[in-house]
Amino acid sequence: MKLAAEFRMSATSLPECPKWDRAEIAMAGRSNVGKSSLINALTGSHKLARTSKTPGRTRALNFFSVGTRLALVDLPGFGYAKMSRDAATTLSRLLETYLVERERLLGLVLLVDVRRGPQEEELALLKIGENRAVANSSLGIIVAATKCDKLRRSERAAALKRFSELGVEPLMCSAQTGEGIEILRRRILALANEQDRDA
Ligand code: GTP
Ligand code: MG
Repeated sequence: MKLAAEFRMSATSLPECPKWDRAEIAMAGRSNVGKSSLINALTGSHKLARTSKTPGRTRALNFFSVGTRLALVDLPGFGYAKMSRDAATTLSRLLETYLVERERLLGLVLLVDVRRGPQEEELALLKIGENRAVANSSLGIIVAATKCDKLRRSERAAALKRFSELGVEPLMCSAQTGEGIEILRRRILALANEQDRDA
């Protein structure tokens, strides 16, 4: 099953975000980790979210509607070394404000390159999500280990160990081979449906 999606709008501040009633599930992670590619894989569209070999491409929040109740949000990637300090600060503020204050945000998919494992920034992001979860008691978190096609079978166990600090079992994904995509799709839908039941 595909999540048929449509690009709706970009926003660079909270007031610009869409005024709708959809359950938003956001994709967060380091620049170049594969957020846009994963959205394309989930929705079965190669051109929906712009992907790039140049990191730091996505600098706004990009909203995609899925069906009548759900939306996927492609968040700007952090940690791009060549970005100016000012631009990086603006971007991380936007990210944090959205994650903390956006009411319609119900789920967070944290993407981490499987070869790199989580670093300080990923742990901080997870903490933001969890803190909010205390206030809101409803932010579901999924950790996706991306680009797992780049690992040999024999390298997987060691790679998974690097994720233990997160305290959330990562889902091994590849936008290239499709590994993990169907499971991720189901978990996203389950998050959105849980919210429907609670409503
Ligand atoms: P920003 O928008 O800069 O934050 O990047 P992003 O996280 O949206 O990454 P994007 O999807 O643009 O992918 C970055 C690069 O990684 C592109 O060259 C993709 O083709 C590549 N890539 C993404 N997913 C995969 C994957 O699962 N496997 C492999 N091998 N390459 C991938
Ligand atoms: Mg992107």
